[in-house]
Amino acid sequence: MIGDLVKANRSCRRFHEGHPVELKTMEELVDLARLSASGANLQPLKYILVCEPQFKILLVLAVGKPKEEIKIEAVGSDGSIRYWRDSEGVHHVPKRTLQEIIVASHTT
Ligand SMILES: Cc1cc2nc3c(=O)[nH]c(=O)nc-3n(C[C@H](O)[C@H](O)[C@H](O)COP(=O)(O)O)c2cc1C
Repeated sequence: MIGDLVKANRSCRRFHEGHPVELKTMEELVDLARLSASGANLQPLKYILVCEPQFKILLVLAVGKPKEEIKIEAVGSDGSIRYWRDSEGVHHVPKRTLQEIIVASHTT
């Protein structure tokens, strides 16, 4: 179900280098991206698929086996949405509450 996918989907910044992603898998992901929404249908993105770290990175979409724990947090009283990493390497991601982002509800 799409709700489960969204809830489980986190941005990872650490990956197991011993688990490279197959070129075919990356091609399949780009094929899905190809069918996704695009402003004015411009489809401006093109890709260089790299399975080995041999290029200087300018702009990257990284995929791989996550090598980090990620925890969703409530936004604190200071309102900061900045993510942080604790001393044990756990990555914390504050998310605004539903009440904060639904400004109004109208129904018939
Ligand atoms: C359009 C876009 C650009 C992003 N750019 C970066 C980036 O340059 N560097 C990075 O570490 N994360 C980037 N992210 C990931 C966000 O920081 C991440 O989505 C946010 O911290 C919330 O974490 P989550 O994806 O686990 O919910 C980007 C996300 C989006 C949607």
